[in-house]
Amino acid sequence: MIKKIDHVAIAVRNLEEGVKIWKDMGFEVEYEKVEEQKVNVGIIHLGDARIEILESLSEDSPISKFLEKRGEGLHHMAVEVDDINETLNFLKDKGYRLIDEKPRIGAGGKKIAFVHPKSSKVLLELVEG
Ligand code: CO
Repeated sequence: MIKKIDHVAIAVRNLEEGVKIWKDMGFEVEYEKVEEQKVNVGIIHLGDARIEILESLSEDSPISKFLEKRGEGLHHMAVEVDDINETLNFLKDKGYRLIDEKPRIGAGGKKIAFVHPKSSKVLLELVEG
């Protein structure tokens, strides 16, 4: 069902400050603006997993709200699953709380869905791949 960690996402107030440590350690950083989520993303490739550094583009984005409440730090963790609908149904049947009952389309056109942190202790993203 779950294959591997896809990415770990860290919320920061300033993207350049957030990616600095990774650049200093010799990693290349790719940048992507995701309008739909109102974020700028710095992407660091670590093997076949990624670290995403998230900076908010707007006061009303989920990242701004997160920073207000929790400050900078781990925002979510994403795992790759082979069948997202099957995984969502499995978790739902077990009584776990989901944010998305149905998958939506995320970065790169992939199907994604979020599991509520009440269930997974950290916001968990499922990515079908
Ligand atoms: Co993500």
